[in-house]
Amino acid sequence: MSTLRLIAGSANPELAGTVANYLGAEPADTLLERFPDGELLPTVENVGGSDVYVVQPTPPPVNDHLAELLLLLDACRRAHAARITAVVPYLGYARQDRRTRAGQAVGVAVFTKAIAAAGAHRLVVVDPHTPALEAISPIPAETLTAVPTLAQEIALSERVVVAPDEGAVKLAERYTEVSPNPLAVVRKRRESGREVTALELIGDVRGRLPVIVDDMITTGATIETALGLLKLHEAAPDVTVAATHGVFVHGAVGRLHRLGLRHVLITDTIAHRSLHPEFQVCSIAPVLAEAIAAMHNDEASPAPASTAWNLA
Ligand code: R5P
Repeated sequence: MSTLRLIAGSANPELAGTVANYLGAEPADTLLERFPDGELLPTVENVGGSDVYVVQPTPPPVNDHLAELLLLLDACRRAHAARITAVVPYLGYARQDRRTRAGQAVGVAVFTKAIAAAGAHRLVVVDPHTPALEAISPIPAETLTAVPTLAQEIALSERVVVAPDEGAVKLAERYTEVSPNPLAVVRKRRESGREVTALELIGDVRGRLPVIVDDMITTGATIETALGLLKLHEAAPDVTVAATHGVFVHGAVGRLHRLGLRHVLITDTIAHRSLHPEFQVCSIAPVLAEAIAAMHNDEASPAPASTAWNLA
């Protein structure tokens, strides 16, 4: 059997290091040169003949992290890695899975093709925004989920699970699979990258403790809007938020803090520094390590994120 090698990109070396600890492996040496014009030049060592896992999520600056991922994959391919898996716990551009008007691109199709063309045989992601990823990706895409990791930190049985938009309903159902709770759904309209409007709340939240669940928090606009509707519908004020990816741009951390949320749970698919005390980061490393170990041993693919999700 070929040797397992973990390559840590620069987007989240802490996560790669924790995964390596779980696997009892050392991340392989990589060197990343940054040129004055912005070009990147990574160099990988000792990957020839190995089963290589390149760990590189794509948080902001998303295009730089994507470029580095592609360069790392190409470097591994040229260094004769036996098998290459792109482990992209947070996959940017996954919201662009279809055109919403003529003349647009389908970003996730472009970048999954690029990941395959650069040398990856397989792609691993956590709670991708699009449930169509497996169909879109030209290489096998294994979708893992952070729901059990996050759910075990929430007293779920007491709460109504709130999907802050229609796109989050499948994810919210995953939480109600863990604990059979009532579900409420916010209908929202996105006005721009930074603005959303809440249209209505479907479900009974009056007097209940809510947990708002989403795949990602970017600016915090969606959470703020959902919170406004929950107040209007007289939900209990002690609100928990759980999201897999804390992308946090444009002052999102401060914005969420000012909302007076009781508890904000995210994972370390994206590295986080300086958060407020109500934020809790749950590590996804054990889930990634288990999946990588299974793939390395050619065991059955990790379970898809949700059977219901896949069949819906
Ligand atoms: C969109 O459908 C996603 O699931 C999130 O709800 C969205 O990306 C969050 O963005 P923001 O925090 O900027 O509202």
